[in-house]
Amino acid sequence: MSWGLNNRLNRVLPGLANGTGSVMFAIDHGYFMGPTSGLENPKDTIVPLLSYGDSLMLARGILQSCIPQDCSLPIVLRVSSGNSILNEDMSNEELCVSTEDAIRLNVSAVAFSIYVGAEYEHQTLVEFSKLINEAHRYGIPVLAVTAVGKQMNRDLRYLSLASRIAAELGADIIKTYYCEDFSRLVNVCHVPVVIAGGKKIPEADALQLAYNAVSDGASGVDMGRNIFQAESPVDMIQAVRSVVVEGVSPKEAYKKYKSALK
Ligand code: R5P
Repeated sequence: MSWGLNNRLNRVLPGLANGTGSVMFAIDHGYFMGPTSGLENPKDTIVPLLSYGDSLMLARGILQSCIPQDCSLPIVLRVSSGNSILNEDMSNEELCVSTEDAIRLNVSAVAFSIYVGAEYEHQTLVEFSKLINEAHRYGIPVLAVTAVGKQMNRDLRYLSLASRIAAELGADIIKTYYCEDFSRLVNVCHVPVVIAGGKKIPEADALQLAYNAVSDGASGVDMGRNIFQAESPVDMIQAVRSVVVEGVSPKEAYKKYKSALK
């Protein structure tokens, strides 16, 4: 691994260096969901949260139009797209942002969705591999957003299949979902694994989820809706951070979150 790639990886996941988790803050939902609740006006709602994340995952348009140019947070740029929530099968994604443009945007990593077991599995895996060829030439780490076919459960069997495939193809970071026996998934991937938060759940449950993931070996969270759709996003991202980075118990973090709301 080149020094540049390693350096970028450690900036995206600073917890790797000291054995803690890291908080990636994901706001890329609009690339297939449109004006997602909580992200209607990212300039007003998201910018105040940036100082509490370790890195920011988003799509090109929002980066260019809403994120201040003096932002020092490492950027993880989504480079795959090609479908919307209106499609029944959402796996028809391709590489849509060049590595040249990613470099121009000064990103620290790029993110690409693979869809294992879905209609366009082959296409996404081949495009993903080609992206790795290109991005690694310039020392840019690649994060695999792992999705499984919609008829498959998000359980250990399918999530570890997708995650291991991503690792075998050369991913530098795997993003998947938390599942029962999650540590077994982490053990079959030889690169850092982070979990997505998924749909909005009660804040106490989201904090417990983050805690469980890190306790089971995740290198952190790549969390979106459970932060920006929380009753108080700025307090929630701090609560998530306290659990993931500082090892505060989810109960304690939730207590602090609740008292900050008053
Ligand atoms: C989904 O494909 C997007 O990449 C999101 O960034 C990801 O799911 C994490 O966000 P959330 O915590 O809202 O699931």
